[in-house]
Amino acid sequence: MKKLLSLAVAALIFVPAIADEGMWLLPLLNKMNKKDLAAAGCKLTPEEIYNINNTSLKDAIVQFGGGCTGEIISGEGLIVTNHHCGYSSIQRLSTPEHNYLMDGFWAIRRDMEIPCPGLSVTFLVEMKDITQPLEKAEKKGQVEEKLKELTSAARDANPDCEVLTQTFYNDNVTYLIVYKVYNDVRFVGAPPASIGKFGGETDNWMWPRHTGDFSMFRVYMAPDGSPAEYSEDNVPLQPKNHLKISLKGVHENDYTMIMGYPGRTQRFQTAAQLEDMVAQNRIRIDARTVRQNLMWEAMCADPKVQLEYASKYASSANGWKKWQGMELAFKKLGIVAREKEKEERFMEWVAKKPKRQEQYGSALGEISEAVEKAREPMAAYTLLVEAPYGIELVGFVGRFFRGVSKKQQEGECSDEEAFAAGVNAVKGLYRDYEPTLDRKEAVALLEFYRERADERFALDSLGNGFEDFETLDIERYASWLFEESAFTSLEKLTAAGSVEKVSADPAAVLQDAIISKIAGLYPAIMGPQELLQKGSKAFTAGLMEWEKGQPSYPDANFTMRLTYGHVLPYSPKDAVLYRYYTTLTGVMEKEDPTNPEFIVPEKLKELYGSRDFGRYAEDGMIRTCFLTNNDITGGNSGSPVLNANGELIGLAFDGNWESMSSDVMFEPDLQRCICVDIRYVLFLVEKLGGAKNIIDELDFAY
Ligand code: ARG
Repeated sequence: MKKLLSLAVAALIFVPAIADEGMWLLPLLNKMNKKDLAAAGCKLTPEEIYNINNTSLKDAIVQFGGGCTGEIISGEGLIVTNHHCGYSSIQRLSTPEHNYLMDGFWAIRRDMEIPCPGLSVTFLVEMKDITQPLEKAEKKGQVEEKLKELTSAARDANPDCEVLTQTFYNDNVTYLIVYKVYNDVRFVGAPPASIGKFGGETDNWMWPRHTGDFSMFRVYMAPDGSPAEYSEDNVPLQPKNHLKISLKGVHENDYTMIMGYPGRTQRFQTAAQLEDMVAQNRIRIDARTVRQNLMWEAMCADPKVQLEYASKYASSANGWKKWQGMELAFKKLGIVAREKEKEERFMEWVAKKPKRQEQYGSALGEISEAVEKAREPMAAYTLLVEAPYGIELVGFVGRFFRGVSKKQQEGECSDEEAFAAGVNAVKGLYRDYEPTLDRKEAVALLEFYRERADERFALDSLGNGFEDFETLDIERYASWLFEESAFTSLEKLTAAGSVEKVSADPAAVLQDAIISKIAGLYPAIMGPQELLQKGSKAFTAGLMEWEKGQPSYPDANFTMRLTYGHVLPYSPKDAVLYRYYTTLTGVMEKEDPTNPEFIVPEKLKELYGSRDFGRYAEDGMIRTCFLTNNDITGGNSGSPVLNANGELIGLAFDGNWESMSSDVMFEPDLQRCICVDIRYVLFLVEKLGGAKNIIDELDFAY
């Protein structure tokens, strides 16, 4: 099967794609997309985009902080990414006195840049298809040896780098990937959240959009050029490449491409899997509604809580809204029915040849069987994780004991040392923690859980006479829990002093009750995994053979991809047309001083009023955001939107509501990528932030 796939890839005939679907693999651009890229309007060759021997565009793109994308925009390691990508770092650096999140921040001198412990950026050095050597080794039963040989050769050839292997196309293809990671990343600047997150959760996932969703950071390296942990002696990175910026503007039908790190898509999943996914998401939506309502109430009542919970709330709400949009889009666009129809056609094709029947004939059945077997236990698991495990206190206990066991696994250690490691693992969490709020969440989540969970998953024996979950007085239990537990504050925890002591803590007892239910579910969840993997691998290989001759791309898996397409408007519903760009006028229209999501800073209003737009306006107005039909997903956030010459014209930051099923199926007429115009970004840096130093550092393509 693997063999067939490699042959299929090698024998591709190039037909221009009709839509701009595709998160293309960089090493295959030359083979798969060369003609189509040119036909679409790209002026760069595949080698100028991705090359492992010479500098190419990919050298200016980074994975930012593990879940986003960023790009280098100066010869001194300056990075631009989304505001929502820098959000948790900026939140962590903020205090009520220095509230960079609310007020914005600009380092107008290098020495003002602020280190962000824990934040890293990753450069892709190369990725190499090793499927064939592995297949050969498999025949001799020497896969492990071969893997070792290949990775250690790559390690030797790339000092200071991380080498890993990753599979694509549901395990049909394996790549060896080399990354270079930099851990000294410093905060350079961001607009206030009223701009960087303008429109808040209301506008999130929606067009028309007016968010200035960007922030800036700088990568530092050791004086000798190698990656290094933070040190005063470090110097700004001298990157292999950085992007030039175009101020020429963005117009309908312009060619655009986006390079970045899309996280997860499910384009090779079956109808059975998709239905299950929607059902699991519904559990998450419901549990998060309970939690988020309480969080939001507390945040609105107290600015201190607002700052502490800003990042937690945003990331919870982002998924929560996405899943709801998905549910709606699934219905409206008939996603499952279309997938079923495709599967029928696939099976007809399979039935035509005995060989196909043998290779792919049982795949769909195997997947359905595995999904069905894991359905109930998965639902129970999701409910446990989202509801009772959603209590922050419970999460703290989990982290604490992971810290403890990690220390114990490292070697012989005293109770004192293990305890210190546990405290160390959680101490950062207390900075943004409100036990009063968490107690309310605990009551609501436990009530929600009791209502939803099957009685087999009752959390009995929670101590102090709280034995029977069915009749548990949840209010009284929670009061006792938060009163007695040492995990509610760092002081209390530190004072507890020993692992043995906190093992009997009421929060540890609760955590243990939840974990033992989860552990009980594991066999039922993991059991069908092997069958699922087998079925998925065969189904994907079958699809590849079925669609032989078409360029293909694997599901997103946090590896770097290219997507190309054009600037386009769209029609969200009958009789409505959405223009492809928004302007500052729309920001003023949306202003609502009574709604925290739609505050417009005074300074921005002044600049708007005096039309003080510098060189960043078009037709006398600042354009804020624009639309393309590029194929992106979460993880692409912060990705550069590039013109035909590879110059930066914007940053991708969102998808649109009408196509929230996009991770599963690409909708050519509806799916759009929402981008912030680089001219709005630079207008904000220069005119609102007064950070001329940053503008001077940039490289403009005129
Ligand atoms: N929807 C965006 C994405 O997933 C994130 C937007 C963050 N903003 C927010 N209001 N939560 O990439």
